[in-house]
Order: sequence, then C-alpha cells, then structure tokens
Amino acid sequence: MITKKKKTVSSFRKMKQNGEKIVAVTVYDAPTARLADAAGVDLLLVGDSLANTVLGYENTLPLTVEESLHHCKAARRGAPDAFIVGDMPFMSYQVSCAEALNNAGRYIKEAGCNAVKLEGGTYAVAVVERLVAAGIPVMGHIGLLPQQILAAGGYKIAGKTPEGIELLLADARALEKAGAFCMVLEGIPAEVSKQLTTAVNIPTIGIGAGPHCDGQVQVMNDLLGLFSDFVPKHAKRYANLTETVSDALTRYCREIRSGEFPTEEHSF
Ligand code: KIV
Repeated sequence: MITKKKKTVSSFRKMKQNGEKIVAVTVYDAPTARLADAAGVDLLLVGDSLANTVLGYENTLPLTVEESLHHCKAARRGAPDAFIVGDMPFMSYQVSCAEALNNAGRYIKEAGCNAVKLEGGTYAVAVVERLVAAGIPVMGHIGLLPQQILAAGGYKIAGKTPEGIELLLADARALEKAGAFCMVLEGIPAEVSKQLTTAVNIPTIGIGAGPHCDGQVQVMNDLLGLFSDFVPKHAKRYANLTETVSDALTRYCREIRSGEFPTEEHSF
C-alpha cells in the first residue's frame, strides 16, 4: 500500500524551491474533500465562496464563522489526513487582533484545520503577525478581493497600472515578512503575478493570475461545471455536472412516473 506523506507548511515552501507546482482546490463538504484528497490535490481550501457556491448567498459577505466552521468540520471528516485551510469570513478578523485570534483558533481547535486564510496585504499585517505568533499558519490573499466588493465597486482585476503593481508588490512582501506561509493571487495579469512570484520566497497560488504562480487554486463548482449561467473567465470546466445531474434527475422523474423504476431488482 502506498502511504501518502502528510503535507505541512514547510512542504509548500519546499515545493516552490523545487519548482513543483502546488495543486489546490476549494471543497465544501466530506465527499468533495475525500475525492480531492484521493485525486492527489495538495491543499484543500474551504473557501468563503461556500457562501455563493453552496449556501445560496449572492456573494461572500453574509457568511458567518459558524457556517464556515460547519463545512470545515465536514471536510476534515471526509479527508482526515489532508492539508485543509479554513477561509475566515468577512468581519471575522477585521475588528481587532484579539477577535481575529479567537476566531482563527476555532478553525484549528474545533474544525481541525491546518491553517486559515484571510484577505488583504499591508492592511492585514498586524493580524497575520498576531496569528502566526500564536502558532496559527496563515495563507494570505491579495489582488481581487471578493470581501472588498462594496468598497471597490465590484470584482476588479488588480495590478493594471504601475501604481497598482507597486501596491501589490508591497502587499506580497508585507505578507511574507508578517509570516504568511503562502498567498493566493487572485485576478492579477499574468506578467504581474510572475513578478510577484519572483519577489517572494513563499509560494504564490493563483486564480485568474496566469501560469507563472507556484500553484493554482480553482473553485470546485467551476471546474466541475456545477453552475448554470455565469462561467468565470479564469475557470476551466473539467466536467459538466450540471448537465449530468439534470439528465439523471429528468430520467428519474420519467421512470417513476412511467413505472419503469423501481423493478424487482430494487425490491425486497
Ligand atoms: O473562497 C474562495 O473560493 C477563495 C478562492 C477564490 C481562492 O478564496
């Protein structure tokens, strides 16, 4: 039997040093966590995209710590040995370092996460330092920040001007200095991500940030085609589960109404 070595924060730094791509994906429950881990994904993120992909909210802002923890616990039950990151919801780490620490601690102690993620660069430095000092590994997140949509006026690609690039470089360096073990780069032009990836020694994990990042993360529902209308430009659909599931359900309705199911075979 092949035993897989458990990932730790230093595994990811080594992967960057060795030029080995890091594969990450969002998961929201036990079955998706189990499948992703079995497929060889390196890092499972219980993203706050849980809000819109699974819980039916319009965006990530309404998600609560309780809701997020509920799904982190399920992911942990599905993949007991995986490296799981819990994504801290809007307003769970902005009020004070003490409140951030209290909430982040719950991801580790109650949900069994290996790390937490939070959005923001220089703005988030004090919180990142506080969590890291307490022994909680932190994944940073810069570029397009879904928790900032109200202030930004929507989902905006970052780093499109020389000033924007300077801000991103400052954010990336600040997160590294604060002790983050890796960072998500979201919605950033490919050449800018390349610059950011070379500027820091910790791994960059891109989503809509081109091919030069040290790794990639995708939203599970996007890559499985589990959406009906909007397909984000950065997403590649590896399956079309919307079609598969609706075909299956349509057949199920038809077969029950026609008496084709259940048969002897399904009866006791
Ligand atoms: O919540 C999420 O899905 C994320 C990814 C976009 C990185 O933060």
